[in-house]
Amino acid sequence: MKLIVAGSTGFVATELIRQALSHPAVTSIIALGRREAPTPANAGPNAAKFQSVICDNFENYSESVRQKLAGADACVWTIAVTPSQLKTMTWEQICTICRDYAIRGIETMSELDRDRKTSKPFRFIYISGANSVRDPAKRPWVLGDYCVLRGEAESRILAYAQQSNGKVDARIAKPGLIEAEGKTGVLVNVAKTIGRTLIGLPKVHVREISATLLDQAVNGFQKDTLLNEDLVKIGQRVLQTQQ
Ligand SMILES: NC(=O)c1ccc[n+]([C@@H]2O[C@H](COP(=O)([O-])OP(=O)(O)OC[C@H]3O[C@@H](n4cnc5c(N)ncnc54)[C@H](OP(=O)(O)O)[C@@H]3O)[C@@H](O)[C@H]2O)c1
Repeated sequence: MKLIVAGSTGFVATELIRQALSHPAVTSIIALGRREAPTPANAGPNAAKFQSVICDNFENYSESVRQKLAGADACVWTIAVTPSQLKTMTWEQICTICRDYAIRGIETMSELDRDRKTSKPFRFIYISGANSVRDPAKRPWVLGDYCVLRGEAESRILAYAQQSNGKVDARIAKPGLIEAEGKTGVLVNVAKTIGRTLIGLPKVHVREISATLLDQAVNGFQKDTLLNEDLVKIGQRVLQTQQ
């Protein structure tokens, strides 16, 4: 299968690409981003599966980018502004990146040429967050506007897929804090612990969420929304079978 990883230079995408490289069902990985993604270290002969594709306009894909995405079977969408970056841009920019890019992404990818022999829908997974809400009335007191925005993106992506007459199948992943060894400094870890206590965020390891997303992209979806506990459970099961 041909897999698109959008936001290919990011934290989750880097681990997802690492795992996808050694997955026997994945024959091609398109690392889609606004800048070049390096060929993963230790990729060995699997490096041939990997192609970095730079997109300079996520609201209007160029013909050459469309051609490189054509024939893909699935996309894991990781592009977003994370809470720690919110203060660095305007609210309009945040809405564009977190919501509009993803909606334009699913629209564009679902319109591309695919192998007509396959009756399977194009699979699109949008990574959101555990605290995002689809009902604005449930706006949380911490990061309220951001959580409502991410929830709106979730609803619009699911609605687009539902109205696609089986052309696209979309799913939402809602992780809490994504952890990795050595990812952050002590201060950030302290802030995270406080944040988790205040907001009650659950945790998932980056290996677990990546294994889950890859499994769902390859084998199809179990539920339309994967909560943190699902991401942990499926990921641990998949990783155990690989030991
Ligand atoms: N990390 C966590 O603990 C956590 C927890 C819950 C949910 N999530 C969600 O999981 C997803 C992935 O998170 P992550 O931690 O992997 O994020 P990340 O490391 O910040 O990666 C984000 C990706 O989005 C790209 N991006 C950002 N702004 C862009 C723009 N204006 N145009 C094009 N690309 C842009 C980045 O490209 P550059 O490298 O060029 O900046 C990068 O490839 C996000 O939806 C996030 O909200 C993360």
